[in-house]
Amino acid sequence: MSVAQHKALILESKLGQFAVKTVQTPKPGPEEVLVKIEATALNPLDWKVQALGILIERYPTILGFDAAGSIFQIGEEVPPTLFAVGDRVLVQGWFDLAEQSAHGTFTQYFLLPYKLVAKIPDSLAYEDAATIPTGVATAGFPLYNQNESAASVRLTPPWVKGGRGKYAGRPILVIGGASSMGQFAIQFARLSGFSPIVTTASPHNTPLLQTLGATHVLDRKLSSEELIAEATKITGGPFEVVYDAIASEETSSMAYAVTARGGHLVTVLSNPALELRAKEEGKNVDFVHGVFKSEVNRDIGRSLLDALPGLLKSGDIKPNRTEILPGGLNGVVEGLERLKNDQVSGVKLVVRPQETA
Ligand SMILES: NC(=O)c1ccc[n+]([C@@H]2O[C@H](COP(=O)([O-])OP(=O)(O)OC[C@H]3O[C@@H](n4cnc5c(N)ncnc54)[C@H](OP(=O)(O)O)[C@@H]3O)[C@@H](O)[C@H]2O)c1
Repeated sequence: MSVAQHKALILESKLGQFAVKTVQTPKPGPEEVLVKIEATALNPLDWKVQALGILIERYPTILGFDAAGSIFQIGEEVPPTLFAVGDRVLVQGWFDLAEQSAHGTFTQYFLLPYKLVAKIPDSLAYEDAATIPTGVATAGFPLYNQNESAASVRLTPPWVKGGRGKYAGRPILVIGGASSMGQFAIQFARLSGFSPIVTTASPHNTPLLQTLGATHVLDRKLSSEELIAEATKITGGPFEVVYDAIASEETSSMAYAVTARGGHLVTVLSNPALELRAKEEGKNVDFVHGVFKSEVNRDIGRSLLDALPGLLKSGDIKPNRTEILPGGLNGVVEGLERLKNDQVSGVKLVVRPQETA
């Protein structure tokens, strides 16, 4: 089976507009697979690149960092014991910091090294699977990456021997529990045994976050002073591990205030000033780099991709809830506008590229 051309959502130039175009379909190299993308999810980074002109200098480009589909073609050196045509898989798009380029999943066919692919269980819909890759990377890598160059708490992952429940009785604070990243951070904290698992969110998301493992959900509209007081009342003091999935000015300063000396504040957005201050004050601020393809994440990434089929099948890791946008890739632009305007709560927006007219 082969296909010569397909549709992709192209960002033509820096700060330019998105447009669906027909592009040539690539053929897999020896260690690559071509995946037919059935579902791709939207991330805040997609609108930030387009509207703020950050990170990427090579245009035209394709954005999109989360997807799921089936293997359509396979390179000749991909071990047949690992992958075959037709396998249902999840994949992450990536940006390359050195090249300042993006390799995204807002497309009908996506080429990538087989080593960056995870199989998904038959019970998991493509739309649900597409919510997972960046979330598990961004939540899991800074907690569990053992690479000495990585910004990480260096905990034992719950998917390796001796890791499950290892941190029982240790408190953790996840700021922004209802965000996509926050939902995965709560789930890993639960698997690692952390307790209590305190989080902040809009009250209507409390039942969802409790099912994922949160023990205490604080109203995110409380003032920083009130949040600090409420969180430390639960544990009797500051937290050794804080995961800030929002990293706004407000949440960063609140998160830093409740991080114990010697403890770790994981932050999803870079904050060099806070990192510097933390060094002087004996705290750690770990900026996440949630990209599977990056060298620093190679070992933890492969270990997680190998464990994912089991974690998903058992329900230990649950996908985000989804809202499917109509129009295939044409639906992305409106979805990104909603993300930009903070009009999305507790769900991941997903499109089906094969529905693109
Ligand atoms: N460094 C990396 O590698 C990396 C990777 C991926 C993402 N990111 C960054 O991580 C951030 C989160 O991404 P995401 O995809 O998880 O976002 P998202 O799912 O779009 O986040 C939306 C949620 O954020 C919550 N929220 C907003 N402001 C909040 C606040 N002040 N306190 C608590 N919750 C708040 C809202 O919760 P309620 O609905 O409960 O109000 C909303 O549901 C983004 O800035 C993104 O760019 C970084």
